[in-house]
Amino acid sequence: MAGKRKLEHFAEMKTFANVFEPKLEEVFRADYKMKGKWKSEFFKNDHPLILELGCGKGEYSVGMAQKFPERNYIGVDIKGARMWRGAKTALEENIANVAFLRTRIEFIEGCFAKDEVDEIWITFPDPQPKDRQEKKRLTGPLFIKRYLQFLKEDGTIHLKTDNNFFYNYSLEEVKRHGYEILEATDDLYGEKIEDFDETTREILSIKTHYEKLFTAKGHKIHYLKFKPHGKAPKD
Ligand SMILES: C[S@@+](CC[C@H](N)C(=O)[O-])C[C@H]1O[C@@H](n2cnc3c(N)ncnc32)[C@H](O)[C@@H]1O
Repeated sequence: MAGKRKLEHFAEMKTFANVFEPKLEEVFRADYKMKGKWKSEFFKNDHPLILELGCGKGEYSVGMAQKFPERNYIGVDIKGARMWRGAKTALEENIANVAFLRTRIEFIEGCFAKDEVDEIWITFPDPQPKDRQEKKRLTGPLFIKRYLQFLKEDGTIHLKTDNNFFYNYSLEEVKRHGYEILEATDDLYGEKIEDFDETTREILSIKTHYEKLFTAKGHKIHYLKFKPHGKAPKD
């Protein structure tokens, strides 16, 4: 039954105007048709563009889009069954400033043009803890290099995770490359949340599916915000 529903959701998603599912050959060493055109052709405005990488069901992208109609959001994930949920909610609730892009983040630089993106959120990424998995970590040097191809000079990257290993790894990487750290806390709700300004508090108050699961288990939520300043990682 679950398999049948999944297939129905996949078929339905093909009809969603807010979902983009490029074929491999459209993004692998290629420029996707929407590259540089998200604002002019989809959002039809010139508002800032914010990406959520590994968006899962898209709670963060949809939640932020609702709170901030003057900003555009794109949730990116490879898993269509999860993405269907966020895309469906956005359509049902007429939230026009959010879209979804189904692709591997390995091909993200084929999807966005230089300076097209103002901010990146990485919400509860898979930690990929084994040494041989480093190249899959979304805050690793290979990925930061990709993001730098389209993130604005002054753009910020935000990470929310419950995973100690991943938080410490990301913090060390940020320090190693001399990126500017704007926030770094290993217990966001325990000690720091009150220090943030109201807008940031509003943003951080949105809980993703995984954040709810981890919080229910008593895990602390870690948060890192940094500016890579256009510096490319050395390796
Ligand atoms: C642990 S889940 C978190 C989902 C959501 N951000 C949340 O907090 O509920 C990680 C998500 O990242 C996606 N993901 C991981 N690596 C990816 C990659 N290289 N390309 C695309 N999606 C990826 C997975 O498909 C999964 O939906």
